[in-house]
Amino acid sequence: MYHRQPQPEEIPGYTYGSPALPSSPVTLEELEKLKAAVMFSDDDVAALRMAGDVLATQLDDILDVWYGFIEANPFLLHYFSTPDEQPISDYLRHVRARFGMWILDTCYRPYDQAWLDYQYEIAQRHYRTKKNTTDHVNSTPLINYHYIVALIYPITATVKPFLSNRGHSADDVERMYRAWCKSVTMQVALWGSPFMNADAF
Ligand code: HEM
Repeated sequence: MYHRQPQPEEIPGYTYGSPALPSSPVTLEELEKLKAAVMFSDDDVAALRMAGDVLATQLDDILDVWYGFIEANPFLLHYFSTPDEQPISDYLRHVRARFGMWILDTCYRPYDQAWLDYQYEIAQRHYRTKKNTTDHVNSTPLINYHYIVALIYPITATVKPFLSNRGHSADDVERMYRAWCKSVTMQVALWGSPFMNADAF
């Protein structure tokens, strides 16, 4: 599907940077502390740019692996299905395209206010406040948060072979992989906000 980077306007429901998005409850100052907590540094920013160049030409193959994993586990496919457990193919297809954009955003976007605001949007799309609304589907009201945390492992482990098959040194692959792990961990931490009481977040 992606011979070049996908164009955002071709992706249904992808609203990164939209002025209509609500502001993140997390401030930029808090984001700086979260970065420090996952040991995310300027070197990780550089490593993610390199990872973006490596992954951008492999998006479909990566998404095939991730979707293969979801489809092989009915308890995960459940969250893309109707109440009588019929997978909703348009829902899967649209979210897959936005997932591809997310890979690029994770690698290339500055982690600024617009990024924080879209983090909040993604969080709510996993929670009852916004799940299903973007694609107008009748599916589960939310995704149980423990699975979001658990998926950090497959979403990081399965990316490593893709980072290493473009001829980079073992050191660079490790740098890219670590930066990817830190960013995904940080994002999943941010996505906890709608699931928790404000004072516990
Ligand atoms: C590390 C864990 C996860 C990552 C990185 C991730 C990433 C994403 C991304 C990037 C999107 C699209 C955001 C957008 O609309 O622009 C999305 C949406 C979605 N994800 Fe996840 N996700 C994770 C965990 C899960 C889990 C465990 C499930 C359960 C099967 C899941 C199911 C969904 C569904 C159903 C949507 C569509 C929500 C909607 O808009 O209605 N995700 N996810």
